[in-house]
Amino acid sequence: MVNPARDFFIALANNKLLYRGAKRWGSHFGADQFIGGVDINSMMRSVKELNDLGISATVDHLGEFVDKKSDSTKAKNEILQVIERIHEEKADCHLSVKLTQLGSDIDEAFCIQNMREILDLAASYNIFVNIDMEDYLHYDQTLDILDVLRNEYDNVGTVIQSYLYRSDADIDRYQNTRLRIVKGAYKESADVAYQNKEQIDREFIELAKKRLRGDAFTSIATHDHHIIAEIRKFVAEENIDRNKFEFQMLYGFRNDLQESLANAGYLFCTYIPFGDDWYGYFMRRLAERPQNLNLIVKDKLYDEDNQIKKQPLMIAGAAAAFVSALFLLLRRKK
Ligand code: FDA
Repeated sequence: MVNPARDFFIALANNKLLYRGAKRWGSHFGADQFIGGVDINSMMRSVKELNDLGISATVDHLGEFVDKKSDSTKAKNEILQVIERIHEEKADCHLSVKLTQLGSDIDEAFCIQNMREILDLAASYNIFVNIDMEDYLHYDQTLDILDVLRNEYDNVGTVIQSYLYRSDADIDRYQNTRLRIVKGAYKESADVAYQNKEQIDREFIELAKKRLRGDAFTSIATHDHHIIAEIRKFVAEENIDRNKFEFQMLYGFRNDLQESLANAGYLFCTYIPFGDDWYGYFMRRLAERPQNLNLIVKDKLYDEDNQIKKQPLMIAGAAAAFVSALFLLLRRKK
């Protein structure tokens, strides 16, 4: 199904020129609402706030398009520091990592070595590490690396995207591995992925149910209240142990629903991205739901009492300049 807004924001997410520029501009224009901190200290404060509400966290040190070994090594070292902090602060928190950040596009053996260092330290503190799934171009490589690591570690898992035709077979292939089920955030061709939203939603429910009938732990990652209601009904009818799964949502989205699920006695985990590489992550969130722009505009223009902030024109002007710059840069690249 053609969705111009989704295609537009995914094109922006993949634009390396804008990606590099955005890092320099800082997380203005609303991205900060969905980022759990710019550094480890601020991120850990977000984790602790959620833990106090009975919600666990999975933290993602933001970064993509890494093409220098030195950048991957820097990212790995920061992830190691995060693991130390989770342990020191006894936080209820695990890790989400992207293999392209850890060098999979540069040198696969180097990436696996980075993962081994991360998994060694995490395992020593009993911390789980999830490998996020990126676009289909990286799919087989991600599973190949996972296979290598699963032979050596128990504390590693990955993500299955319900928009891919092959996901049902991959659920069987990884029936003993901890998995997160998502719909899928990238633009994939009809050769490999369903294009129809209803079909993707149906597949999500079927994959989740299949996992819940099995033994391994499953994270059901969606903001979709229809799917959540369906899963809650299924779990109650089938008498499925609530310790076998958790619901997951992204930081800053549907906070009331996040808290109400935790209060209803379900395991709940919030995915917290942090750092200054916010651009690709942020654009994918706009691609999924352009209405997220409304939240941002509201946040930037109005204060907590719904009163217009003092410099709305300046903010609106900056936002307009931002969008114009995006268009100009994209046109120049074509
Ligand atoms: P979707 O965007 O399909 O919305 C369905 C319905 O839910 C909407 O029509 C609306 O009714 C409601 N809704 C959604 N958001 C709402 C909001 N903010 N407020 C009110 N109502 C709302 N993808 C990937 O490819 N690889 C990965 O590793 C991950 N990892 C990941 C982790 C976690 C914790 C999450 C939640 C998601 C991911 N994703 C991901 C992203 C995922 O693939 C998907 O793109 C998004 O979750 C969007 O799909 P949803 O199922 O959340 O709702």
